[in-house]
Amino acid sequence: MDYFPVFLKLKDQACLVVGAGEIAARKIELLARAGASITVIARTISPIVLNLQTTHQLTLLQKSFCAEDLTEFRLVVSATDNTETNRLVAKTAEQKNIPVNVVDNPELCSFIFPAIIDRSPIIAAVSSGGSAPVLARLLRAKIETVIPPAYGQLASLADSFRDKVKQHIKKPAQRRIFWESILQGSVAELVFSGKMQQAKQQLEQTLLEQKPDANLGEVYLIGAGPGAPDLLTFRALRLMQQADVIVYDRLVSPEILDLARRDAEKIYVGKQRQDHALPQESINILLADLAKAGKRVVRLKGGDPFIFGRGGEEIETLMQQGINFQVVPGITAASGCATYAGIPLTHRDHAQSCTFVTGHLKDNSINLNWKQLAAPNQTIVIYMGLVGLKKICQSLIEHGSPKDLPIALIQQGTTINQRVLTGTLATLPDQVASQDIKPPTLIIIGTVVTLHDKLSWFKSRQA
Ligand SMILES: C[S@@+](CC[C@H](N)C(=O)[O-])C[C@H]1O[C@@H](n2cnc3c(N)ncnc32)[C@H](O)[C@@H]1O
Repeated sequence: MDYFPVFLKLKDQACLVVGAGEIAARKIELLARAGASITVIARTISPIVLNLQTTHQLTLLQKSFCAEDLTEFRLVVSATDNTETNRLVAKTAEQKNIPVNVVDNPELCSFIFPAIIDRSPIIAAVSSGGSAPVLARLLRAKIETVIPPAYGQLASLADSFRDKVKQHIKKPAQRRIFWESILQGSVAELVFSGKMQQAKQQLEQTLLEQKPDANLGEVYLIGAGPGAPDLLTFRALRLMQQADVIVYDRLVSPEILDLARRDAEKIYVGKQRQDHALPQESINILLADLAKAGKRVVRLKGGDPFIFGRGGEEIETLMQQGINFQVVPGITAASGCATYAGIPLTHRDHAQSCTFVTGHLKDNSINLNWKQLAAPNQTIVIYMGLVGLKKICQSLIEHGSPKDLPIALIQQGTTINQRVLTGTLATLPDQVASQDIKPPTLIIIGTVVTLHDKLSWFKSRQA
């Protein structure tokens, strides 16, 4: 982060703008919106700035800028087309510790103007640190479209109920849940559709119905997808940003965790190298206990929670204990990896069905229905199959699969580290043994694999 974002209180504060052209006018208008008391110094004052004088009560000084002009100002903006003047303003401001912005000259700036989304009292600011202002403005335009103009009124309504809610609901965590349901539910909708009075009544009513000690904790069992953060669902993202606690395991990438609420507690329950994962029963109990303490808990799992994810066991415990929960599906590794490797799982010329199996070895044996898996015209996807790869290929051949049946191993699918190795049942195990393979990996077997060369589209770092 090259610049730290802060919001300055400029009401009635003296601010100086050097220059009085069109660009200076824009900065004057921005400062005026924040209630600043503005002095303008310029040799020539443009008509547009003259016009602003009456609306914003500017002090206009028609003269050249000199260092002595920079006295008790809270901040200064230099918007002239004279390099010497801009440098002098910047140097003097620096000497006097006054924040300075020189328009279009990031090196001379100690602060920069962000692109502003104004829904006062809600203000959002976007900055590219001066490196790509157009991009920041485009992003602002996008944000403008998703923040309804009435957000300001919603914030004012919330403000007017703040003390009442605080008195009625004592626990901070519970209060936050209350506010989130108000600000995302029907009260907000009423405000957005201009029905302020009704919104107020409904908020009042909801507060009255709220039991002060109600236990509002719940669990969201969320599939985080196979790795790429933008493969999360909207719902997953929304719930992650509300949660008080995130309980996550090994397959959840740091980039995905970064999308959770900043101050959420993060609890790792996956397997560490040489160490053991928290036993499943302990995870089930942990989730229930956190929810009983009134927390909103996200249980974040790689891929989809209901595909080789033990999600069923976790919600069973919650159900037994009467804890509210919801399950958010995620893109499972089979779907994500196959798509990013350019291997369709079904294809009219190759496979009419697709089977997901686990290749996890128990007592060094893989207990699968080999006869069924060796049948033609299908695709088999094997999760957790790297260790047993040799055994898997051997067993398929023994049960009738051709030795030259295509097979692919996909490492860290959908991420920039994705790697795809292809071969046949006879060749892939040796190929893999000679490579440095990084987990997680997924195996796809079937003639669909031949399409990889033609359909591969995703350019990973490896590619
Ligand atoms: C315990 S299973 C969890 C599967 C997960 N619930 C899902 O739906 O994808 C873990 C296995 O999923 C596979 N896997 C998950 N993410 C992967 C990825 N990005 N690339 C390759 N394989 C992946 C690997 O076989 C890994 O060993």
